[in-house]
Amino acid sequence: MSTDAPLMKEPDANANPPVDGSELIRLEQVTKRFGDNTVLDHLDFSVNAGKHVTLIGPSGSGKTTILRLLMTLTKPDEGTITVDGQQLFPAPEKQVREVRKKIGMVFQQFNLFPNMTALRNITEAPVTVLGMSKGEAEERARDLLDLVGLADKADARPSQLSGGQQQRVAIARALAMRPQVLLLDEVTSALDPELVAGVLDVLRNIARTTDITMLCVTHEMNFARDISDQVLMFDSGRVIESGAPEKIFSEPEHDRTREFLSAVL
Ligand SMILES: Nc1ncnc2c1ncn2[C@@H]1O[C@H](COP(=O)(O)OP(=O)(O)O)[C@@H](O)[C@H]1O
Ligand SMILES: [Mg+2]
Repeated sequence: MSTDAPLMKEPDANANPPVDGSELIRLEQVTKRFGDNTVLDHLDFSVNAGKHVTLIGPSGSGKTTILRLLMTLTKPDEGTITVDGQQLFPAPEKQVREVRKKIGMVFQQFNLFPNMTALRNITEAPVTVLGMSKGEAEERARDLLDLVGLADKADARPSQLSGGQQQRVAIARALAMRPQVLLLDEVTSALDPELVAGVLDVLRNIARTTDITMLCVTHEMNFARDISDQVLMFDSGRVIESGAPEKIFSEPEHDRTREFLSAVL
């Protein structure tokens, strides 16, 4: 854990952050089907507080589905999902809304509000959802813009920003809700190649300087190696191999992992 984590250390109205290392996310026996297609098949996995866990695996293996389940954008057919000791599924609507606040997500497509400035994109949800005062939300938004290297772009509209800059605003917007966990789904896949490094540097910095838990889907293997405490290799809705990045990337046990890595590296 770092010593300079001003953004995550403030008292949080939503929750008592768990002690570092305790279980923050738990999926038990989670099954998700789309028609005849069983995408996740009795999946078990957990993520401990403060850890950075990366999901890798071929396209269609169910990685995005896991993140969408955690965002409650879709529901499992079977199983339970627990976040910070509270059930997210199954759970009554009110509890879902509470638990959902602990989770922030950044998507491949940044989806900023096009008619709002960068600053307003970041302050909107804290003001309307968390009931934060406009002044406090703006002060925090400026700190977050600074964190993502866009202190001078507060008044810019999305159309005036590059894709990489828009994605950095989207990261700041997710952090503005003070989530305990940040979900990142291939956040650089839609970017022009020259813009990828800047976004990854911002995420490396967040990983290093905050104690936010990260669950990340990426094809950027160097980035995954740098930031991950644990890498999970997915295939056909199951974790077929998991471990420290040095092990997964240097000495994978499964043929399937070796094949995947040789295709993407
Ligand atoms: N809304 C949906 N309707 C039908 N099938 C879906 C839907 N979302 C995902 N799938 C299917 O679920 C499988 C896993 O998809 P996804 O989780 O997006 O994989 P990944 O992110 O690993 O590429 C794929 O076979 C995909 O076609
Ligand atoms: Mg995906």
